Amino acid sequence: MSDINFRLDGKVVLITGASSGFGQFFAPALARQGAKVVVAARRRNPLLALEEKIESDGGKCLAVAMDVTDRASVKEALDQVEASYGCVDVVINNAGIGDSNAMFDVTAEEWDRVMSTNLTGAFNVAQESARRMNQHGKHGSIINIASVLGLRVASHLTAYCASKAGLVQLTKAMALELARYQIRVNAICPGYFLTDINRDFMETDAGKKMIQRVPQRRLGDLSELLGPLFLLASDASSFMTGSILSVDGGHAVSTL
Ligand SMILES: NC(=O)c1ccc[n+]([C@@H]2O[C@H](COP(=O)([O-])OP(=O)(O)OC[C@H]3O[C@@H](n4cnc5c(N)ncnc54)[C@H](OP(=O)(O)O)[C@@H]3O)[C@@H](O)[C@H]2O)c1
Repeated sequence: MSDINFRLDGKVVLITGASSGFGQFFAPALARQGAKVVVAARRRNPLLALEEKIESDGGKCLAVAMDVTDRASVKEALDQVEASYGCVDVVINNAGIGDSNAMFDVTAEEWDRVMSTNLTGAFNVAQESARRMNQHGKHGSIINIASVLGLRVASHLTAYCASKAGLVQLTKAMALELARYQIRVNAICPGYFLTDINRDFMETDAGKKMIQRVPQRRLGDLSELLGPLFLLASDASSFMTGSILSVDGGHAVSTL
């Protein structure tokens, strides 16, 4: 039996929401593991800057514009990936947005925006990618970035909590159906890490108090997501599907 290998040499890894935060951090790290990285989001300029940086560091990267809420845009982006790199091996469904209104004040537009990005968007990308993986006979891996708020709840985040809980359940449902095609589907549930999605909240008193309720009493460092990410992306997790991994300093098991 060979040693466990977390390398991604030659694998085509698509990461959505790569124009900032987690995605922008994950992309160069995945390239250093040997992956051909495809960075996708709506804003093209930060993607092009990321592509240039990864390539100048000796990695392989392709920037593609993609709106995960728009099936035509998802298809077009995956066509572009196939033309340049071939079919994707790994998809990281990372695009996501938050909400911040009390339940009484959530508008129909806000509800739809959050659900269509965080839940429907992940489904759109997973379905289109899985179809292509199957057509090309690929043993793929789909990784959904859910949240501790898909397992627990917090105030003023009704749509976000519902979308992430949906994503946790979607992960399991897709894992069940796709196992026979050798396509694995798993999720990571991060706790709180400082990025644009929560920067304003973290500066408030409520944000500072929240950190004190995390059993490890701190925010996560983005580098602490890489171990689980490389595990799920690589063949090291070849017998894992439908798994939901918390990376949250114990937040999901904090005392009630
Ligand atoms: N930071 C945390 O503490 C934390 C904790 C748990 C879970 N998460 C999850 O981790 C993921 C990444 O969040 P982050 O913290 O890195 O936030 P972020 O910095 O705000 O990044 C969100 C990314 O999603 C992209 N995006 C939004 N709508 C999109 C759409 N319709 N189509 C394509 N891309 C879209 C944005 O790019 P464009 O605007 O350019 O499209 C951006 O690159 C999210 O799913 C979030 O819910 C974060």
